[in-house]
Amino acid sequence: WALTLALIALAYLLGSLSGSLLLGGLRGVDIRTLGSGNAGGTNALRTQGWRFALGTVLIDIGKGALATWLAVHWMPDATRAWAEYLAALAAVAGHVWPLFHGFRGGKGAATLVGALAVAWPGALPVILVVWLLCLLSTGYVGLSTVLAALSLPLFALAVWAGAIRLGFAVVVAALVVYTHRANLARLRAGTESRFERVRVFRR
Ligand code: G3P
Repeated sequence: WALTLALIALAYLLGSLSGSLLLGGLRGVDIRTLGSGNAGGTNALRTQGWRFALGTVLIDIGKGALATWLAVHWMPDATRAWAEYLAALAAVAGHVWPLFHGFRGGKGAATLVGALAVAWPGALPVILVVWLLCLLSTGYVGLSTVLAALSLPLFALAVWAGAIRLGFAVVVAALVVYTHRANLARLRAGTESRFERVRVFRR
């Protein structure tokens, strides 16, 4: 248990290293005061440009992957199957509620992608296709991320990925819906910001 707790704490601390807030510190800007107010890749692109956004996304994907990789390589065989998902959840939680940034972070999508790349790479093409199709037809990143996250438990059920993966998928899908609650409210009000230029499939 001591090892599991240490892993969860380390994964949470890694998750707390927010890409956009660290890069913003170098540039003297806090993107939580700009655009959608979210400390993530989308708002980085919206307010700081593609280089800053790329750096943000690489850091956020990287920390999710690293936290999960630590579980795979450190934990004994008997606990590894679920420990990697606990580490993934802790990293995502760290990103959403970062210790180093006043517990106000991002929405967890890029960190989740990094964790999945290590723990469950077979799910990545599914969520990426759902995300891309939604983005190319609507231009809404937040909506695309919510639908991609919701596709994860459906995929886990469809292929019967096992109880651990299904449980993880349900928890992260619920968390992503929760972190995107303001986006969903803006969508209902018709005020959600849209990337018009990426809309390839239009009615
Ligand atoms: O992952 C964040 C994205 O899904 C939405 O970002 O800035 O539009 O709230 P934003």
